[in-house]
This record gives sequence, C-alpha cells and structure tokens, in this order.
Amino acid sequence: MSEKVYDVLPQAAANAYINAEQYKEMYARSVNDSDNFWAEQADKFVSWFKKWDKVQDWNYHEGKINWFVGGKLNVSYNCLDRHLEKRGDQVAIIWEGDNPASDKKITYRELHEKVCRLANVLKAQGVKKGDRVCIYLPMIPEAAVAMLACARIGAVHSIVFGGFSPEALKDRVLDSGCEVVITADEGLRGGRPVPLKTNVDKAVAQCPNVRKVIIVRHTGRHMDLVAGRDIWYHEEVEKVSATCEPEHMDAEDPLFILYTSGSTGKPKGALHSTGGYMLYTAMTHKYVFDYHEGDVYWCTADVGWVTGHSYIVYGPLANGATTLMFEGVPTYPDAGRFWQVVDKHQVNIFYTAPTAIRALMGQGNELVTKTSRKSLRLLGSVGEPINPEAWEWYYHVIGEDRCPIVDTWWQTETGGILISPLPGATKLKPGSATLPFFGVVPALVSNEGEVLEGAVEGNLVITRPWPSQMRTVFGDHNRFIDTYFKTYPGTYFTGDGARRDADGYYWITGRVDDVINVSGHRMGTAEVESALVLHEAVAEAAVVGYPHDIKGQGIYAYVTLMADIEPSDELKKDLVRLVREEIGPIASPDVIQWAPSLPKTRSGKIMRRILRKIAANELENLGDTSTLADPTVVDHLITNRAVK
Ligand code: WTA
Repeated sequence: MSEKVYDVLPQAAANAYINAEQYKEMYARSVNDSDNFWAEQADKFVSWFKKWDKVQDWNYHEGKINWFVGGKLNVSYNCLDRHLEKRGDQVAIIWEGDNPASDKKITYRELHEKVCRLANVLKAQGVKKGDRVCIYLPMIPEAAVAMLACARIGAVHSIVFGGFSPEALKDRVLDSGCEVVITADEGLRGGRPVPLKTNVDKAVAQCPNVRKVIIVRHTGRHMDLVAGRDIWYHEEVEKVSATCEPEHMDAEDPLFILYTSGSTGKPKGALHSTGGYMLYTAMTHKYVFDYHEGDVYWCTADVGWVTGHSYIVYGPLANGATTLMFEGVPTYPDAGRFWQVVDKHQVNIFYTAPTAIRALMGQGNELVTKTSRKSLRLLGSVGEPINPEAWEWYYHVIGEDRCPIVDTWWQTETGGILISPLPGATKLKPGSATLPFFGVVPALVSNEGEVLEGAVEGNLVITRPWPSQMRTVFGDHNRFIDTYFKTYPGTYFTGDGARRDADGYYWITGRVDDVINVSGHRMGTAEVESALVLHEAVAEAAVVGYPHDIKGQGIYAYVTLMADIEPSDELKKDLVRLVREEIGPIASPDVIQWAPSLPKTRSGKIMRRILRKIAANELENLGDTSTLADPTVVDHLITNRAVK
C-alpha cells in the first residue's frame, strides 16, 4: 500500500464548503447531537410539504430504520419544481450520445414538462401510488424522465441495467411485480445496437403481470408492436396535459427498488425510501464533489446501477446542478473519448470507476495530453478499490496535479457515499477512501465479532443508520435482517473488509463474502454457478474471483462434468454462452477449469478459500487442507491450473 500523503490543495480549500476544522466539528456534532444535526440538514437540503415529527426511529435487530417520521415531500418536486423560478432556463441535463455528433441539452423547465407528461401517461395507463414500474432503458434523458415521473406520482421504479439478459430482466420484473415496463427500441454502445425492445419481448412473454410496454423511439429501427400492450412514448406524451401535481409522499414511502447481488441466492431487491434518501444524496453530492453553482458535473456510471441513481439523477438534480449523461463507452470512437467530452462540455467535476481508469491508462498518455482538460477541478472514483498506480495516473496525468481525487466507498444498500475524502478538508492517500461522512460511524470487527481498536484490519460494519440506508429487501424482510444484521448483531455488516491506519483512514480491502466485483459490476458467485449447472453436461460448478489487471477481478469457474462427458473447447464456449443468456455479458467467465472433483470438507462444503488461492496462483500458502475429505483433489487442480 502506498504511504504517500497529498496535502489538501490550496485551490481546493479556498473554494470549498468544508475545511478540515469544519469537518471535525460537523462530524462530532453529527454523531453526538445526531437528531439536531440531521434536522438542520433536512431543513437546508430538502423542501418539505410537511415537517417530520421525529428525526429517527430505528432498531437494527429488527431491521427497522425510519427517518423523518411523519414528514411529507416529493422527490420530483425537490429535483424540479423548486428550481423553476430561479433556474428554469439553466441546463439540467447535458446528453452526450454514443455517436460524438449527437448531443442535446435539456433545461430544468423542459425537464419538468417532460416529467409531468410522462407522469400523466403513467396515470392514464392506470399506474397508481405504490405500483412498481420497470425501467429498461439506455443512457438517454428519458431514463431520468422516467425515474422522476414515477417519483412524481408515487410509483416505485425498478431499473434493470440494459446489459442484463431477457432472463435476468424477467426475474426482476416478476420479483418486483411490475405491471408496466418502459424501454426503448434499441440502445447504442460503441457503435453497436443493443436490442432492448426485443429483450423485453422475450422477458415479458413470461410475465403475465405486465400490461403495458412504453417504448421510446431512439435509434428508429422498425419495431413490431404487440397490439394492446405496446405503446410509443412520443405518441402518448402528446395526448396528455403538461401539468401534473406532485403526490405528497410520506418520508418512508418507497422510492425505488434496485436489484443487487449477494453471497447467496438470487439478487435481492434493495428498497430505498423517500425523505432520508433525498437528503443524503443531495448533501453528499454537494459536499463530496464540492458542487458549486454553474459547475458542469459528470458521473460516467449507468443509471442501471446505484451510482447512476444517486449521483447522475437524484443528488445532482436536487442541488439544481447541470448533470451530464453519457450514452457511450470510454473507448469509442477512441480511448480519448472521456477527455474529448470533458473539453466539449467544459466539465468541472468528473466521477468514474477504477476499471475505466486502468483500461485507459493502458492506452498510453497521448490520447490524454492531446486534450486540454483545463475545466476539470475535481476527480472521483467509485465501485472498487483503486490501486495506487491507477490513482497516481489519474491524479498526475488526467488531473495534472491540480484536482483532488475523492475515492468514494459505498454500496447499493447504503444509497449514498459513506466513506470519502472531502476535497477541501481531507489529505489524500492513494488507495484509501479515507474518512467517514457526517453521521457515519464505521467499526472494524474480528470474525468472532469483537470490536477492534486502533490501526488494524477487520470486517467493516456501520454501527448506526444514516438517512439513505436501504429499508428492506423487497418482499422479504427476514432476508434483510439475516443478510445484514445477524452476522455482527447490533451493526450493519457491509460484506467488505478494511484496514484502518494510524491516522484513522480506512483502506477497503474488498469483499469478504462470496460477492465479486468485475469491472465495478457486482456479482454473486452463486448466480454464475446456478447458470453453469443448468447445462446438462455439468454436475457441479464453483466460481471465484481472481485478480485481473483491468477488471479488478475476473471470473474463474471450476466445472465438474457429468461422468460420461468429455471436456472440450466447444463445451467451454457453450457454457459461456449459457451464462450470457442467463445473466448477461458482464457475467461471462474469464477462465473455465475442468475439475474432476472440488475440494470439500467432510461435511460436503466446498472450500472456496483454496479455490481462490489456486485461481490467483498463490500456491505457496494454501492454508490448512487437513480438513478436506480428499486432499489429493487440490494437487490435481494445481497441476491442471487453467493457463491465463
Ligand atoms: C465495492 C457501488 C473500494 C465494495 C457504489 C462494495 C469499493 C461494493 C468502493 C458495492 C471504493 C465500492 N473502494 N471498494 N471506493 N466503492 N466498492 O453495490 O466492495 O455496486 O461493497 O455499489 O463495491 O458495490 P455496489
């Protein structure tokens, strides 16, 4: 780990909302006088129709988390209506298409009208408060419009990333009970079409609940419509009024469901609610990115992930920001695209993932230095640990030593950033997410649950709620309690490991459970295994992550075939195809190793620790193998390690 320390840059401190002294004072207050602290922030960041009766009411043992109890508000009102008087003509969304020649700008007034119209279309289709709506769209402004239209009428959106397969889409639509799906004819990524509507047709064929599919015309390719089910977005919005009163929502009414992977079973629907989420995403967006009036802010995530929800749409729009939405990929038309877009739209704040930084770093500096990047003032990182080498490149080459880097640690479950530097307050150490945000109290515990003090490594837990914490697993509150509050009772268990150094800085070491992080996309090894064993030739499969230079982690699958099956390259291809069909291309195994048998304990439990070591080629230190039912299995796996 890097021991370098970068002082707060004078230009960052001069401009910033929060300096080092203020951070200390505010943090202490956020913990010691929590109710008053959060009440003040809720007054400052959110417009309420009715104030709350009680700031917080929680019990981690029951998985009960309530914020601003009795308060009434509407998220779309906070993101749109309240800005109209002062910044109606300011650009809310800059859209940059996959094709560099296509872009557009949408003002707050225009966005408000689009949202009201789509909200009225949803109402006309019978969508009511509390109903779920699935959004399966590319990175086009209509994705933000659809989210805000749902929020406006109190419908709960469930966005499914456009890279998920029809099968994965079907599972999510069924689990959340969506009756309406909003999609587009096609998406575009790196010049290639993504057949979204065709995928919806395949998925919805198995979803009897779905009554309507609303289709945005994006690429314009001819689509066959299903009579009585499919309607065009552009036709319907013309039929309805341009005004729609925002629904008065309770602070604890659900805002959205977002599916995320865990260590076991199918992905779970993380449910987020209204008041606390609005406050926390707005506040973190303003302070972590030090967003000032007039700044152009760009988060390169997809709205299909939580980063897109909180830091492309809700946080920035609540603050009246100009947020850039990018449809394409970092390497199209060439690997200089990010920096070309920065110059084109004069981006001040840029937020991306380590996997993208590593991939671009590998393309050399020339594509970077050809661009100006003078507009950049702050850089951000999210989604996985950033290795010091990539951090340094980001800092020196992209930011020319002029831009602080905020390495933000958080999760789908946390709704917003929990551990991160504040640019005007925190000295930076490459690879460390540094210190907790206001109100966040992390702790490190041993495997036995003992709280560890001082400079030490352990399992990362959070000891009390923050406003944007997820409230439940949709449809399965017991799973919520079991997953997050049973491992270390009385705390929220993050699933991550971390080290704390002598300065109290946190260094996230990665997941300690069976979740892997591939190019910043979160995946359960169990999901990939379930897909592999669907193949009739497969008897058993065990999947682990292994270190990958660009992706952070790659997917390594050990596959045991049925007794009479001969291994072949053809079969490997078949298995990869199956995983792509079941989950999506992001889950394709990088390596498949044939394993006549898997290392198991005498009670039949697969020893994943050993499989991880073999995959990572860490063969010296396999640990205790004496508890294995048959230790020779390990030797066979080592001798036949799949060459990478
Ligand atoms: C990892 C993404 C190190 C972590 C917002 C976490 C990180 C998981 C960082 C959540 C970071 C996210 N440093 N690791 N700055 N940010 N992670 O739910 O393992 O897609 O548990 O949310 O990503 O992934 P998710």
